[in-house]
Amino acid sequence: MKKLLLALLSCAILTPALAADPIKARKDVFEQYKKTVGPMSKVVKGENPFNKDEFAKMAAHLDELAQQPWQYFTPGSDKGKTDAKAEIWSKPAEFKAAVDSHKTEVAKLKQTAAAAKTLDDIKPQFGAVMKTCKTCHDSFRAD
Ligand code: HEC
Repeated sequence: MKKLLLALLSCAILTPALAADPIKARKDVFEQYKKTVGPMSKVVKGENPFNKDEFAKMAAHLDELAQQPWQYFTPGSDKGKTDAKAEIWSKPAEFKAAVDSHKTEVAKLKQTAAAAKTLDDIKPQFGAVMKTCKTCHDSFRAD
């Protein structure tokens, strides 16, 4: 009985550690990226109406997301169900530069969106953000 209890206890302790799978954690954030950037793109393309406050809110949310995935590119998490390229770990300075320019452009988009009066005020900066996604994926994500 005591053994069983101990086994149950150690399970309970181990489970959160398993849930903190860094590959899954970063993919989850990128999924949220998709859910945020998708609706923003539709507005920028004119497929959905432009609502200044809604757009500013999405840009602020994107800025929160942009702080998150990078901590999960931990040593050893290059193996497994991941599209992350080995270059992330072999060229850390380049990867950091890609992260930094992304964060900078997203922060600018947040400011631009907060101050924007029309959609045209936002379009160029949205394009600049999307470019940083593509630049990083081209170098650091296998497709
Ligand atoms: C600094 C590099 C970098 C930037 C910037 C970046 N990504 Fe990624 N992204 C990655 C890497 C690396 C992966 C692969 C993660 C993995 O499979 O472990 C990825 C994966 C993804 C995925 C797939 C997630 C999955 O479930 O497999 C989506 C969607 C995505 N990114 C969207 C975006 C969008 C949208 C942006 C810009 C708003 C963006 N990313 C910016 C590096 C980046």
